Amino acid sequence: MSQIAEPITIRNVTFKNRIIKGAMSEALANRAGQPNDLHFGLYQAWAQGGLGCAITGNVMVDLRAKNEPGVVAIESERDLERLKKWADIGKKYGMVQLIQLSHPGRQCPKGLNQETVAPSAVPFSPMLATMFATPRELHHEEILDIIQRFADAARVCEKAGFEGVQLHGAHGYLISQFLSPLTNKRQDQWGGSIENRMRFLLEIYHAVRAATSENFIISVKLNSADFQRGGITEEDVIAVFKAIDQAGIDLIEVSGGTYEAPAMAGVKAEKRKASTIAREAYFLEFAEKIRDSVQCKLMVTGGFRSVEGMNAALQSGACDFIGIARPFAVETDLTHRLIAGQDVKYAVKPIKTGVPFVDKMAVMEIIWYAAQFKAIGKGKKPNPKLSPLLVFLNYAKGNVKALIQGRINSRKSA
Ligand SMILES: Cc1cc2nc3c(=O)[nH]c(=O)nc-3n(C[C@H](O)[C@H](O)[C@H](O)COP(=O)(O)O)c2cc1C
Repeated sequence: MSQIAEPITIRNVTFKNRIIKGAMSEALANRAGQPNDLHFGLYQAWAQGGLGCAITGNVMVDLRAKNEPGVVAIESERDLERLKKWADIGKKYGMVQLIQLSHPGRQCPKGLNQETVAPSAVPFSPMLATMFATPRELHHEEILDIIQRFADAARVCEKAGFEGVQLHGAHGYLISQFLSPLTNKRQDQWGGSIENRMRFLLEIYHAVRAATSENFIISVKLNSADFQRGGITEEDVIAVFKAIDQAGIDLIEVSGGTYEAPAMAGVKAEKRKASTIAREAYFLEFAEKIRDSVQCKLMVTGGFRSVEGMNAALQSGACDFIGIARPFAVETDLTHRLIAGQDVKYAVKPIKTGVPFVDKMAVMEIIWYAAQFKAIGKGKKPNPKLSPLLVFLNYAKGNVKALIQGRINSRKSA
């Protein structure tokens, strides 16, 4: 039997195979951040395709801080019935579901929220500053409020029937902003030493654990590196992995990169070591390095495309789960096919419109995939050949309207 097909148990939850769909923002919710039939249709398609576990796209813990239009938010039990419906899909098909809880901090496009907040008021690089505003530094009480929001949202997820949550601690979002000395310049107990910079993550973990029962799975997605000069060092990353493991985390997903250095989607081939290219997964080497220092289960996401590469990673013991994201947007039955010994069919390439300014923005990737998710959610087939330019033009049209409307509304309320 192929290693990817072997079941595994965390707490009292059995995963029927080792394939986990990595979080991908669905961008399908309404402005109030509510899940709907499109989400249910999408997750049902993946469940019917044999998936062992789905990690949802990132779900906001604060509606005032959205990373993009169309994200789901959980601030209370307002949408409990809808969330129950979502959780039931997993139960029906034996697919474990973890809700990815997130706060984007500074990584919110201009015009979407009233303001952006972050550990410190650090501006973006000139190119990204056209898209992202310089954030306001969070007050101590606001930090405590966000920690509580993660716990409250996790409690609602458990009540709805989800098997667990994943804390989004990677890709330059708020938790990772606290971890990085580039974005965290604080002098109080939340900044400075690595012990202080990881306090936010650890406090969230403890608050979520206290708010949920003992069989509830808590995972975290962490960067193995930020790929930015002056960013978090490998020594500090290892300290974070060890600390969260000792605190009792169940599963760490290994990733890397930020909006400013998007390595999660694959660093340029020429910059990667030959050994990494041979093993296809971008962050496997780091998983191998950390494996013996942590007790928890490990998942590696980014680049896995062949059954041979996936089985080799599991067999080496470097990780317990294979994370796959983009291919699931165009192949909903991928898990069945992998277990039958077939590789990923469509080699997803970076989504390019041919317009350089647009192509440098992470948002382009998100909207092309969102169009696929919408089609799947409606019960249609995804289209790997969908034109990125067409998708972008539709998006720009919709968002110009929203931005103008936003300006009018804020003038009215001023
Ligand atoms: C459209 C899109 C949305 C994504 N949204 C999220 C997200 O909400 N949270 C997250 O942790 N990663 C997100 N990712 C990153 C993926 O989880 C994954 O780390 C990355 O795509 C590399 O895996 P792959 O090579 O298998 O696609 C997203 C990626 C894409 C393409």
